[in-house]
Amino acid sequence: MPTHDLVIVANRLPVDARTLPDGATEWVTSPGGLVTAMESVMRTVDSGAWVGWHGTPGQAPEPFAADGMHLYPVPLSEQEVSRYYEGFSNGTLWPLYHDVIVDPEFHRTWWDAYVRANRRFAQAAVSATAPGGTIWVHDYQLQLVPELIRSARPDVRIGFFNHIPFPPVELFSQLPKRNQVLRGLLGADLVGFQRESDAMNFVAAVRHLLGYQVDQYTVTVPGIGSEPARQVTARSFPISIDTAAVSALTEDPALQERAAELRRELGEPAKIVLGVDRLDYTKGIRHRLKAWGELLDDGSIDPHDTVMIQVATPSRERVDAYRQLRDEVELTVGRINGDHAPIGRPAVSYQHRSFDRRDMTALYMASDVCLVTALRDGMNLVAKEYVASRPDLRGVLVLSEFAGAADELRAAILVNPHDIDELKAAILQALNMPEEEQEQAMLSLRRQVLDHDVQAWARAFLAELESVGAPGGGTP
Ligand code: G6P
Repeated sequence: MPTHDLVIVANRLPVDARTLPDGATEWVTSPGGLVTAMESVMRTVDSGAWVGWHGTPGQAPEPFAADGMHLYPVPLSEQEVSRYYEGFSNGTLWPLYHDVIVDPEFHRTWWDAYVRANRRFAQAAVSATAPGGTIWVHDYQLQLVPELIRSARPDVRIGFFNHIPFPPVELFSQLPKRNQVLRGLLGADLVGFQRESDAMNFVAAVRHLLGYQVDQYTVTVPGIGSEPARQVTARSFPISIDTAAVSALTEDPALQERAAELRRELGEPAKIVLGVDRLDYTKGIRHRLKAWGELLDDGSIDPHDTVMIQVATPSRERVDAYRQLRDEVELTVGRINGDHAPIGRPAVSYQHRSFDRRDMTALYMASDVCLVTALRDGMNLVAKEYVASRPDLRGVLVLSEFAGAADELRAAILVNPHDIDELKAAILQALNMPEEEQEQAMLSLRRQVLDHDVQAWARAFLAELESVGAPGGGTP
């Protein structure tokens, strides 16, 4: 196996394998913000590799190259997909780290599978990394990987970035095996988070639960036996998007025409309101539909001239909470359309599928309002994509204060999505905002997003890792 100077390890590869009816394999872009962000970073790196699962249970394909990236698939058995991925990662950690919006389940067999799978990812990363190289581990599915790598390869720098929130210590403490998880993360030289509050929650958990010495954001990890103590830095690095790629798309005349065509297809409504989410209970889709339904019920919105488009990308479909959410969302959309849609035009155009980058950008360009109503979200890149897609300075972003993006995008209309009246008022304010006000807000939002793109984010993380990481494992 060739070795690489920079190796990314994430649960998913940037592409998923799908088996076509004729047995052939098709590769499609994987869902989620992690892939959106890291894919564009890795395209610019020479000698970089990406270690991850290819999205289907069973044997892994051979390593292969795609778009200049070297991809190393990690196999997961059917049972591991069910216990490590759907179980401990998405039935335990995901809801616990997102404020317990649904109840996390704990099962010892899930934990065992999590440990086994983390070992396999660590092993694959170790074999792919050149002497003295850097391994950058991503997200909650792989929290044990940093420590596993460190014990095998003290010569490499290890960074970890958590794409989702890190919960307050009161919630984190509920996690069985919580100390093992913290020790796993502390195998890294640098642990990155989306928000300042996430980094604070992490160091508070380390202090309370492990009793390690913490000096602001530096944790001293005591050495075992003759090993010296090590220092680990925890800091926030708010992730972003590839703004240059989005800007290039918005300048494409074919895409501008596509945006106009979308409006025509919807019967030239005066206003289009857009929601784009993975179909996940953290995204506040129920709350958004409730507000929308009530605005139609009380006559504040006229469905003859205003349409909502809800893109709901299929996600984790075998996990119960996701199945239930889908049923509820589809029932609600059906009710709203049954009650309010004029013949020939929906009140809510519901799209249960994923859109490629081009179509997504056309949707952003065509929409007057973008609604991001997450109940809890690490960052939310949809908010940043919408802003980057509006060089015309039109359009209004309504943004939940519980999305990480709210720390930076202060010029959005910020809302508490739990407060349905507040959400309704924010939607009406957005729909009625004069153009001049839209321009002012969008200018300020664009300054923030365009000045902090994902390349700058990756450079900042890797520069910090370079400065704090002391291969050999001793205190720098
Ligand atoms: C979020 C997570 C990612 C995950 C993505 C899609 O963005 O932070 O780690 O890959 O959702 O979820 P999935 O379970 O399909 O990988």
